[in-house]
Amino acid sequence: MTSPVDAESAASDPETAEIRLGEKTLPLSVTEGTEGERAVDIGALRKDTGYITLDPGFGNTGACRSAITFIDGEKGILRYRGYPIEELAEHSTFLETAWLLMHGELPSKMELDDFVGDVTSHTMLNESFRKFMDALPRDAHPMPICAATVGALATFYQQPESEQSIRQTIVQLIAKMPTIAAYAYKHSLGQPFIYPRNDLDYSSNLIHMMFATPCAPFEVDPVVAKALDQLFILHADHEQNCSTSTVRLVGSSMANLFASISAGISALWGSLHGGANQKVVEMFEAIEKGGGDPEAYIARAKDPNDPTRLMGFGHRVYKNYDPRAAFLKDSCRQVLDRLDVSDKLLEIAQGLEEITLKDPYFVDRKLYPNVDFYSGVIYRALGIPVDAFTVMFAIGRLPGWIAQWIEMRNDPAFRIGRPRQIYTGANQRSYEGMSSR
Ligand code: CMC
Repeated sequence: MTSPVDAESAASDPETAEIRLGEKTLPLSVTEGTEGERAVDIGALRKDTGYITLDPGFGNTGACRSAITFIDGEKGILRYRGYPIEELAEHSTFLETAWLLMHGELPSKMELDDFVGDVTSHTMLNESFRKFMDALPRDAHPMPICAATVGALATFYQQPESEQSIRQTIVQLIAKMPTIAAYAYKHSLGQPFIYPRNDLDYSSNLIHMMFATPCAPFEVDPVVAKALDQLFILHADHEQNCSTSTVRLVGSSMANLFASISAGISALWGSLHGGANQKVVEMFEAIEKGGGDPEAYIARAKDPNDPTRLMGFGHRVYKNYDPRAAFLKDSCRQVLDRLDVSDKLLEIAQGLEEITLKDPYFVDRKLYPNVDFYSGVIYRALGIPVDAFTVMFAIGRLPGWIAQWIEMRNDPAFRIGRPRQIYTGANQRSYEGMSSR
């Protein structure tokens, strides 16, 4: 694995900033990343002045230096380890991209062959997981099933943490996530679990485990497998988002990788994060049911007194078109054509997007489609059930979470994550007995 912060060399800058607090002026150093983004280092602020910074939602707070993923939200750029995601989605495979994220460089042929071989030979789940899943309700959402199963893997692999055990955990996680996802789906159907096949590539194997049955032959459609692999690549990392920050924060307590990833899966489930892909399709379906005109839905999303949001729209970082959404918008049409699927929801999506791109509410706030806007239509065409959409996102995001966890653990500036707060509660008071209440 590479050392964490190759950007360290570009980290110090002769420029400084100053903060004035009453009579006191504190010089602060300015740090610059390899792509020119700047940060004021407030590391000494509290020690020297007693003040902290307050930034709810962390909109202005850099939590780490990272050499993994670069986003320029104004220009709509996303690169993994310097490589544009469009190039990776077009020419790489998910496992090659996973290696790139975790190691910093593309693998040699031998490294990739070994990695693929390792992943392929660890896809089975211990048979006890049949009983584990049996204990869960049939209508359970697959995201908590995945989070619970990944957490439970830690009970099977309890060796003390070492570089070698972490390497093994990484392979186990990447190998077993599709099996867990497929088992969760089969559990919801009440169908027998289908074992992995070692002769299939990563994405084909997932499709096989989800859709094959013991009673009929099943052939994986290579168009479906390729489209899924591309989706995984596009989701593979996105720097310090909610779930990745969760993985880092949990891992910063020295919790193991299984526990940290399980927490990340839970964070991803929320509808403002990865869970949005399911909500987007549910929104399209609601619009279709209402006659297909999105205007009423858009009006609700714009109403400040209505909590409705246009799902799959807006982003904390992108103030331009999300490059993943741009790629998926094109590939959505191609995938549907190649699979010979016609879906009214794609027309609804395009109609809705067209309206918002001219609507001052969305234009002024720089709200554009994000990755979740078109991904759901593709998942639907591939036959993935709606409540498994976010699970697909989790499989894709796994190498990013792992890469960020490793980087955090190897960072010379590593400390347990522990934000501060401004307390706004009651001042000291004395306990009153029940008789005086
Ligand atoms: N529909 C309607 N209005 C919106 C939307 C939306 N989807 N997103 C933001 N706004 C408005 C918001 O009401 C606010 O308006 P005002 O300034 O009048 O109060 C303004 O735009 C800024 O919004 P914000 O809530 O401060 O933005 P944020 O950076 O805190 O939130 C977001 C980002 C992604 C949570 C938000 O845009 C959202 O809720 N989008 C819908 C959910 C979604 O698609 N999530 C997937 C995100 S991409 C994949 C991922 O991260 O997993």
